[in-house]
Amino acid sequence: MAAPVNALVELRGVAKHFPVARSLGEVVRGQHPAVRALDGVSFDIGAGDALAIVGESGCGKTTLGRLLLKLVEPTAGTIAFDGAALAGLSGEALKAFRRQAQLVFQNPFDALNPRFTIYRAVAEPLLNAGIDKSEHADRVAEAFRRVHLPDLERYLDRYPHQLSGGQLQRVVLARALVLTPRFLVADEPVSMLDVSVRAGILSLMREIREEMGLTAVYISHDLALVRYLCERTVVMYLGTIVEDGPTLEIVRRPRHPYTRALVAAVPVPDADQSRAPLPIIGSVPDARDPPSGCRFRDRCPHAFARCATETPPLRAVGEGHTVACHLDLA
Ligand SMILES: Nc1ncnc2c1ncn2[C@@H]1O[C@H](COP(=O)(O)OP(=O)(O)OP(=O)(O)O)[C@@H](O)[C@H]1O
Ligand SMILES: [Mg+2]
Repeated sequence: MAAPVNALVELRGVAKHFPVARSLGEVVRGQHPAVRALDGVSFDIGAGDALAIVGESGCGKTTLGRLLLKLVEPTAGTIAFDGAALAGLSGEALKAFRRQAQLVFQNPFDALNPRFTIYRAVAEPLLNAGIDKSEHADRVAEAFRRVHLPDLERYLDRYPHQLSGGQLQRVVLARALVLTPRFLVADEPVSMLDVSVRAGILSLMREIREEMGLTAVYISHDLALVRYLCERTVVMYLGTIVEDGPTLEIVRRPRHPYTRALVAAVPVPDADQSRAPLPIIGSVPDARDPPSGCRFRDRCPHAFARCATETPPLRAVGEGHTVACHLDLA
């Protein structure tokens, strides 16, 4: 595990299981086999770092993002923010955390209340945080400036349906920034946008992060996208971390067989090809009944006997680079 000095966020052995019955029979019998969305996840996020979380659909990315923001509670393990365990936060400390840690929604069309004007949408977090109303106009204007929508008057009284997707995503960002947070989690921030406006939003997010010194987590199924935004990448497979390291190294020299497959699927910069199938066999197993040992083993072309009996721990293969695999990957 890469362990940055000055960690802002620390996860230790974090698990999240969702009890879900597969059939009415199971409900009647009181059986609730859990979906193991996350299992034994440990890593740190350094203050000011940009971290990418990548992996196929259903591997637990959104669940991890929601845990980081205390929108759901872990089944096991601990998450600390700035040295304080999230589980223990209440009252003023919880309010302070809510101001400092913000989510950027995937779909700007869903993120904003259609009945609220743009001004009200961006000012709402200030209201909820109890910031004096006399400060709202200035702070909203500042947030609009940061997202390069300086002509605030044009947007104040409009409603979400009157804006384009790109403008809306800027408004969603302004809303996330209006409380000047320290930590941002962006879950597939551009996947719902037109290809033509994606690059502009991504470079804006990069600029904002640098300007405000934010610590950021970008969640994506698309390695091509995060390689532009994040110096570090965590690769997830079926609720576990399989590789964690410098993004450039992961892209240029992926070690884990799953990461190699992901990198092989990275398209030339053409977003429409980004969901090309991985060149590995089968599909993601049922998260209610993951394979024993290494969770990737039944899709891995290199699997051998030990992979079924022993869960490979993350081990160092380079500076700040760890891999969970029994193969000799040096
Ligand atoms: N509230 C819930 N109840 C039951 N199961 C859930 C819940 N939320 C997530 N899951 C399950 O947990 C697993 C991980 O889901 P999650 O949404 O975190 O994946 P993801 O990596 O974000 O996928 P995607 O790329 O499709 O967004 C999946 O099997 C999903 O079905
Ligand atoms: Mg998701």
